[in-house]
Amino acid sequence: MSYDPALAALAERSIRLITGMQTPEGAYPASPTFSAYVGYSWLRDGAFIADGASVAGQVESASRFFDWCAAVTVRRAEKIRWIVEESRAGRPPGPEHMLPARFTFAGDDGADEWWDFQLDGYGTWLWALVEHLERHGLDGERYREAAQLTAEYLLVSWERPCYDWWEEHSQHVHVSTLACIAAGLEAVARAGLVDDATVRAIGDETARLRRLVAERGTKDGHLIKWLGSTAVDGSLAAAIAPLGFTDAASDVARRTIDVLEAHLFVDGGVHRYLGDTFFGGGQWPLLTCFLGLAHLAAGDRERAEELLQHAAATATPELDLPEQVPGHLIAPGMRQAWIDRWGPVATPLLWSHAMFLRLGIALDRIDPAALAAPQTAAQEETLA
Ligand code: BGC
Repeated sequence: MSYDPALAALAERSIRLITGMQTPEGAYPASPTFSAYVGYSWLRDGAFIADGASVAGQVESASRFFDWCAAVTVRRAEKIRWIVEESRAGRPPGPEHMLPARFTFAGDDGADEWWDFQLDGYGTWLWALVEHLERHGLDGERYREAAQLTAEYLLVSWERPCYDWWEEHSQHVHVSTLACIAAGLEAVARAGLVDDATVRAIGDETARLRRLVAERGTKDGHLIKWLGSTAVDGSLAAAIAPLGFTDAASDVARRTIDVLEAHLFVDGGVHRYLGDTFFGGGQWPLLTCFLGLAHLAAGDRERAEELLQHAAATATPELDLPEQVPGHLIAPGMRQAWIDRWGPVATPLLWSHAMFLRLGIALDRIDPAALAAPQTAAQEETLA
């Protein structure tokens, strides 16, 4: 174990942002100041933020987020039951009737137009919840109703095309979305948070899902962006780790990591996908961390360490981690148009901070005990 003192201040800043910005309701804001995200919490970002907080020893903060997810879900019980019944009857409701990707802190649907039909976050919050309960030996009884509702929702809808992690390409079925769904369903079945019939249904449906990914979500031996595609997406690293959907020791994992490195890692950072134009299509430190976690799970500690350092190097002088950096742009001509529309890149992005913590702690380069410790007044001042 060798903690890296150079990372300690960024780690402390990360945990301060995550716990300090968590709302009284338990939600984690995606980014406090970015115009298009202000006032919203995403299940996807939030689940990975809670996972980072949980690993960092912030047990109560993570639990409060999962309580918020449960409340948000149970509040929609009637709607979820309707979606499930209609879907089972062969009348799946249109995307506009499905559950949203993000909520206001109070747990309401947003009033702004958004690319809302995304299924991944519903799997990811279940996965992160069970990891958290198991990691800290907590009782999951109070999540039973929300887990049951979320599992039923996913069981009837997992095969549907929907927006991906990047809120794009809604006409496709995305492989990283499937990985999130399977990881979440398998987690709640394992933890016994759903009834017996649902455990059996999860066994059947995830077996089908895995066959589908093997047949149409894999090409040339590696995972691909969506069923039938040939390209990769940075989010696929998560299927290997931390989600564990793809066995890190498998040939598919090895090959996926190789292709992600070859196609998406450029000049110290990982792109979302070739063809990305959002803010010019820069490199995302959170994806650099996901790739690091995949390498670590597959046994390449050295490369994982390099990726951690690359991610840390994107921090601003104030120790904020951005959503993306413009070190290498795929579509430089598109950058200004996004700045004109939404302002500068989201900074800080809490999800970036969470992934930095997650990888740094997995590598034993960040000491979670030091993070959980109360701050001294002097530390409070430096980080303010
Ligand atoms: C990203 C999403 C993310 C959201 C909030 C979007 O630009 O594409 O993955 O959930 O921002 O951080």
